[in-house]
Amino acid sequence: MSQPTLETERLILRPYAPEDAQRLTELIGDWKIFDTTERIPHPYTVEMAQEFIATNLDRSEPGGHSAFGIESRSEGRLIGGTGLTINDINRRASLGYWIGVEYWGHGYTTETAREMLRYGFEDLGLNRIEAQFLKRNPASGRVMAKAGMRPEAEFPEYALKHGVFEDVVQYVLYASEFAVARDSVETR
Ligand SMILES: CC(C)(COP(=O)(O)OP(=O)(O)OC[C@H]1O[C@@H](n2cnc3c(N)ncnc32)[C@H](O)[C@@H]1OP(=O)(O)O)[C@@H](O)C(=O)NCCC(=O)NCCS
Repeated sequence: MSQPTLETERLILRPYAPEDAQRLTELIGDWKIFDTTERIPHPYTVEMAQEFIATNLDRSEPGGHSAFGIESRSEGRLIGGTGLTINDINRRASLGYWIGVEYWGHGYTTETAREMLRYGFEDLGLNRIEAQFLKRNPASGRVMAKAGMRPEAEFPEYALKHGVFEDVVQYVLYASEFAVARDSVETR
């Protein structure tokens, strides 16, 4: 399936392009992004960005990873990234996201998460989308809550970060819950 470009009020969520490598490296290379994420290496090199982009060009495949660059409409350039890791057999996915440090606190990730949930349920036909964050990173939990997800579980010492086992919180949303929330907004 060809990967779509998704549009929100202030953002364009689109497949990565080879030209994104330098900008991606600058944004994602910040230690503050590494500090609360699981799979982003640090230091982050242009070669890593090129490899990541090459393996995520225009992809939205069942059982795979559907990665989008987050572009600001007003700036016309990349400000972050998001993705769904899809388990097609069970029609569920895990949502991830990050936004460049200078763009924190403007609601961009909440806007992104809402659209990714819509995309997952309405366009991909998923039944369940989960997301996890380190307990010491409550901003990410706030994003999930504002996007309509609910807390589901807490896993003690689940992630090994900086040599320390950290507690992880998991949020979830089911297609049925998403539909109820969407329909109540539409009929309000
Ligand atoms: C977590 C992250 C994605 C949030 O992005 P963002 O665009 O700033 O998020 P939003 O502006 O949409 O919402 C952030 C919310 O968290 C709140 N928040 C910020 N710091 C907080 C804190 N220490 N405790 C509680 N809430 C906090 C904000 O006030 C805001 O909520 P509000 O609108 O009710 O005021 C961003 O900080 C980031 O990319 N961090 C590094 C990578 C990362 O952690 N990714 C997620 C991995 S699970």
